[in-house]
Amino acid sequence: MLIIACILVVFWQQDSVHTEDVSVRSYNFTGKDIRLVGGNSELEGRVEILINGTWGTICYEGNFDIRDADVLCRMLHSNLSALEYYTGSRYGYGIGPIFYSQIACRGTEQTIHMCSSDTGVFCSHLSDVGLMCTGCPRTAIHTYGQFEHVNITANGDLYTGNCSNGTSTFQFMYRCGLNGSWEEYGQKCGPLGIVNDFLMYRL
Ligand SMILES: *[C@@H]1O[C@H](CO)[C@@H](O)[C@H](O)[C@H]1NC(C)=O
Ligand SMILES: *[C@@H]1O[C@H](CO)[C@@H](O)[C@H](O)[C@H]1NC(C)=O
Ligand SMILES: *[C@@H]1O[C@H](CO)[C@@H](O)[C@H](O)[C@H]1NC(C)=O
Ligand SMILES: *[C@@H]1O[C@H](CO)[C@@H](O)[C@H](O)[C@H]1NC(C)=O
Ligand SMILES: *[C@@H]1O[C@H](CO)[C@@H](O)[C@H](O)[C@H]1NC(C)=O
Ligand SMILES: *[C@@H]1O[C@H](CO)[C@@H](O)[C@H](O)[C@H]1NC(C)=O
Ligand SMILES: *[C@@H]1O[C@H](CO)[C@@H](O)[C@H](O)[C@H]1NC(C)=O
Repeated sequence: MLIIACILVVFWQQDSVHTEDVSVRSYNFTGKDIRLVGGNSELEGRVEILINGTWGTICYEGNFDIRDADVLCRMLHSNLSALEYYTGSRYGYGIGPIFYSQIACRGTEQTIHMCSSDTGVFCSHLSDVGLMCTGCPRTAIHTYGQFEHVNITANGDLYTGNCSNGTSTFQFMYRCGLNGSWEEYGQKCGPLGIVNDFLMYRL
């Protein structure tokens, strides 16, 4: 009887661990010195970093590119890389200090503080950087238009956007599943082409 109980306990424990692993996306953004503000989820928004107890933004001016965006997403979670980056009003304008401009990362740095940069004091919040991060491969995704939002769901992150066939507007969706692969849903207008890693300056 005791043996059976033990076996049951072992099975129950394995099962609960297993269930937790596969059914819930478990990003934990608590206590990070970076946050994304103004989007649908913590995977998109205006970049704010915490330095010496103060939240501030970073400036797009310079040659901000996907390598810089990747380092910022990685600060949020080691599994993440950048899907798109933005500047302008998309996620609202920040307040407070602008810590960096002219950011030039190699892309492999652990934090933005390790990248070459200049002070942001001459920048304006009109040029705050915004990001969309993902746990799926950027190169594997084709799109019918620009992504508008990311929602974090129990089965992965849902990336949505609108497309038009000329007369009607549709919504397309990609989910970054828990196994790190893209799944496609919704309506199709295109495909309009492969997303180019280096072509994503979006207002
Ligand atoms: C991060 O990646 C590891 C290895 O692929 C995986 O086991 C883990 O579940 C991922 N975490 C999140 C939050 O996606
Ligand atoms: C998230 O991380 C914070 C800080 O590291 C920790 O205190 C908290 O327990 C974590 N929450 C979960 C649900 O793991
Ligand atoms: C943070 O505080 C330290 C110690 O006071 C100081 O040396 C450093 O310059 C500060 N960093 C910024 C970005 O203000
Ligand atoms: C995503 O989340 C936003 C805000 O909670 C909600 O308004 C929207 O309907 C959600 N979109 C999808 C496709 O679930
Ligand atoms: C995209 O489609 C959604 C749902 O139909 C709509 O709420 C939103 O305003 C559209 N966005 C744009 C930029 O057309
Ligand atoms: C666009 O989609 C609408 C609704 O499905 C359809 O009626 C229309 O013919 C389509 N237009 C083109 C140019 O394919
Ligand atoms: C990931 O999961 C989806 C279903 O959620 C499945 O279609 C796909 O084949 C899986 N990919 C891998 C690499 O396991």
